[in-house]
This record gives sequence, structure tokens and C-alpha cells, in this order.
Amino acid sequence: MYPEFFPRNAWYVAARSAEVGDGLLSRWILGDPVLLYRTEAGRPVAMVDRCIHRQMPLSLGRRKGDEIECGYHGLTYNTEGICTRIPGATSISQRVRVQVFPLYEEFGLVWIWPGQRDLADPGLIPDHHWYTDPGWATVSGTLHMNARAQLMNENLLDLSHLSFLHADSIGSPEVAEAPVRVKFDDRSVTVHREMPNSSCYPYLTRLTGIDEPIDRVQTAEFIAPSFGITTAMSRPHADADDARACRQKAMHGITPETRTSAHYFWSTSRDYAIDDDSVTGYMAEALRTVILQDIGACEAIEHIIAAWEPSYPVELNIKVDAGPLQARRILERMIAAEQKMSEGDAPAWTSVSDTAARAATQAWAKRNGSNRDEREVH
Ligand code: FES
Ligand SMILES: [Fe+2]
Repeated sequence: MYPEFFPRNAWYVAARSAEVGDGLLSRWILGDPVLLYRTEAGRPVAMVDRCIHRQMPLSLGRRKGDEIECGYHGLTYNTEGICTRIPGATSISQRVRVQVFPLYEEFGLVWIWPGQRDLADPGLIPDHHWYTDPGWATVSGTLHMNARAQLMNENLLDLSHLSFLHADSIGSPEVAEAPVRVKFDDRSVTVHREMPNSSCYPYLTRLTGIDEPIDRVQTAEFIAPSFGITTAMSRPHADADDARACRQKAMHGITPETRTSAHYFWSTSRDYAIDDDSVTGYMAEALRTVILQDIGACEAIEHIIAAWEPSYPVELNIKVDAGPLQARRILERMIAAEQKMSEGDAPAWTSVSDTAARAATQAWAKRNGSNRDEREVH
């Protein structure tokens, strides 16, 4: 069964950096209303979007410098969430405050930690440096889906659907038939497939002019609790050194909004024709269309699942489900560990999941020359 809830002690994409500015952005994340904005010095801030007085969303108020004035009766909060003004009051207790969430901004994304502040380790954030690397050309966007986040996480780990759901763009018959290699650890799942001498897919022909048999490689990574990276490589089968060989890296921040809805922060970066605006324009449109097909599938499934609640329809698992099922297991373990921790048994969490997760992420960081541990969580 798809996990309905997600761990709170984890990083999720809250926004693309470009979305967070002077204005007051309201976005529900893991069932909490969250207000996002940027200070005059450029630092992103996230606080509960709910005034402590009468629950008015603070996003409907106004900025006073870096502070937020509630639009209903004027309570004002600083960037730490502490109330600095109550009209008519002569003194204010420091305990009058709203919750502020740890944020970390890097490589064009703003990450949020909805859980316990002292556990917010930026070393746990998966590398995504190519998103802003000038050696890559990137298209990106933010979409919303009325379906639980795990449906999309599993869609992204089982790319056999390309042959059917995206047959007219990024799919070819070989994808669904190719054997997959699945690897996993406490924090991530990787599904790898190689498709030598397979038919060229329409999207690649349009982008590169290749219209002959290709060697195609795909690697789908799931990084718990809800982030995905897809790496794809294609080149003409007849000539391994063909200059039209190309690589794409797609990023998928699937952030739960509620139990049955999610935000989808997507991007795709390419390492070929990076200065060609017509390629960029086509990619942006074509990939948005592909993702909307995925969202359509997830929403249709959510509709079926909802009709069965509180029970659950029986599912048949087939070969391609090995990766998605591992992702479910990881989430179930993370949630169980977190529940155990909230009952006062912290060591179980830190000694099992967190240690492995940190080791895995530090390996990525080392590979890519980044060192987040030395940088600051806001
Ligand atoms: S609801 Fe915010 S000041 Fe009254
Ligand atoms: Fe898809």
C-alpha cells in the first residue's frame, strides 16, 4: 500500500529559488500552511502561515521591512517568528510566536525541514548542482497534483511506463522490455536499464536530428523521502563517438501538500546545444506535457484509491515494481523510526536511518566536490 504520511525529519523542496521573493508566498507542505518570503538581505524565511491570534493566514497580511504584519488585527512577527507588536499591548512575552522552519538554499532550490530543528543537517540534501551549472541548459517549473506524493515517486522509479504513457514523445517499445538492475540502501533506490540498438524516440529526433537506432541508458534514483533524479543518455548505435551523443538530468521534488496532494518541482538539464534557445523552448514545452501526462495518471489512480478507502484495492506486482516497492519499504521504515523517536527513543533513528543516509549523501557530495556541512541552515 502506498504510504500516506511522510516523515517530518527530512528535507523537502519548498520552492524553486526564483519563486521566493519580496512577496508573500503561501504553500501547504506536509499538511501545514507555510509562508515563504525573502528578507531584504536576500535570505529565505519560512514560517507557519497562521496568525497565533485568530488563525488568519499571514500571507494575507503585509511586510514591514523583514517583519510580517497580520492583515486582521495587526500582530507583527519577526523572521524568528517572535511577535514584536500587539496593538494596545505594552509588553509581549517572547513565547508569543509562530513556528519558523529551517531552510537551506542551494543550486536554485529552497529546501525545508518540517521536523525537529536540531536534526536539520544540510548534508542530507541530495546533490543537484547541474540545475544551476553553466555547463548545462535547464528548463524547470512547478506543478501541482491532486494525488498522493508516493504515486509520483513510484512513477519515476518505474520508467517502463514511457513505452505507453509517453509513446509519442520520450517512449519507445524497448523501454518496457529492457531488464532492470535495482540497487538500494537505507535512503535511496536506483533502477538502471540499458537499451542497446533500440529505436529512436520522437523527442530525441526533434532535439538532435538523430533518427536511426540508438544506444540508450536510463538511471532513475529515488532519494527518500521524496526526491528523484533521472539520468538519461542516448547516442547513435552505429557510432559511439557521434557528436550528437547527449545526456539529460531530470530532477523531481515531489513535496507532499496534504495526504492526497503534492507539489511537483521539476527540471531537466541537458549538456548539448546549451546555447540554442529553440532547443530550450521545445524542451520546456515537451517536458511539461510529459509531466502533465504523469500527473494525469497519478490523479486517475488517486481517484480509484479514494473510492476504496478505508480499504485498499488489491494490486498485482510485476518485475518492474522491484524499485518502487523498495521505496515504499524505505518510507515505512523512516516513518516507523520517527514514530518511535517521538515516543522518546531517539537512538533508533539516529543509529539506523540517519547514519546511513548521511553516509550516502556525503558520498554524493564528495563525488561532486560540494561540502554542505560547512554551510549554514537558515
Ligand atoms: S488574526 Fe492576526 S492579528 Fe488577529
Ligand atoms: Fe512519465
